[in-house]
Amino acid sequence: MSQSTWSAVDNYISSLYVPADSALDAALAASDAANLPAINVAPNQGKLLMLLAQMQGARTILEFGTLGGYSTIWLARALPPDGRIVTLEYDAKHAAVARENIARAGFAEQVDVRVGKALDLLPGIESEHLHPFDLFFLDADKPNNPAYLEWSLRLSRPGSVIIADNVVRDGAVLDAGSSDASVQGIRRFNEMFAAHPRIRATAVQTVGSKGYDGFAIGIVS
Ligand code: SAH
Ligand code: DHB
Ligand code: MG
Repeated sequence: MSQSTWSAVDNYISSLYVPADSALDAALAASDAANLPAINVAPNQGKLLMLLAQMQGARTILEFGTLGGYSTIWLARALPPDGRIVTLEYDAKHAAVARENIARAGFAEQVDVRVGKALDLLPGIESEHLHPFDLFFLDADKPNNPAYLEWSLRLSRPGSVIIADNVVRDGAVLDAGSSDASVQGIRRFNEMFAAHPRIRATAVQTVGSKGYDGFAIGIVS
């Protein structure tokens, strides 16, 4: 089994479970046209995020790493009409593409795209009392994942759900001596997420059109 099989099976799955969708197709086309990197979640993963948010009954969501807003649109589809997403994006160009994509998908009123380094934006979110958030999606720069976990806990309530993308990275996460700051950030995140007294969590490996990687998911108590 290898990438071509994983991609073919993802296409098979998505052809059944995730039919063509004009808002999401347009978001990916616009992101591609603007030369954004194609590191959004896969369609079936996006739908998984939507389902998890819906199972959680999430009304407030905090996303770290917007890119072109692809995962954001999936998460927004789980919200009730008065639900809100705050999504944090460092790159102003990514944020501009995301705002257009999110508006085209019909969620301009519900999604607040904030531009800056997430660690610089978080104190303002706290002081505006936009928390507690019902669900967090950690998908920005991986070296800061431990700090994003601490902030998520700070802005959570008992029962909040925390989801992190890219916790396996082709198995690179096994290398304790890695000189890659992303790998070290993910390793530290996994250790903290696994052992934190307020969190019940697990991680699963995934293969598919986005390669070999994984998600971690946990609930705050
Ligand atoms: N969640 C998106 C993909 C996000 S890719 C999706 O699945 O559709 C990661 C994003 O994090 C990139 O757009 C990158 O610019 C952004 N990013 C990198 N460092 C950041 C930081 N310090 N704060 C906020 N966003 C950051
Ligand atoms: C990268 C980031 C992601 O969030 C992802 O899902 C895949 C790749 C990256 O920075 O390379
Ligand atoms: Mg990711």
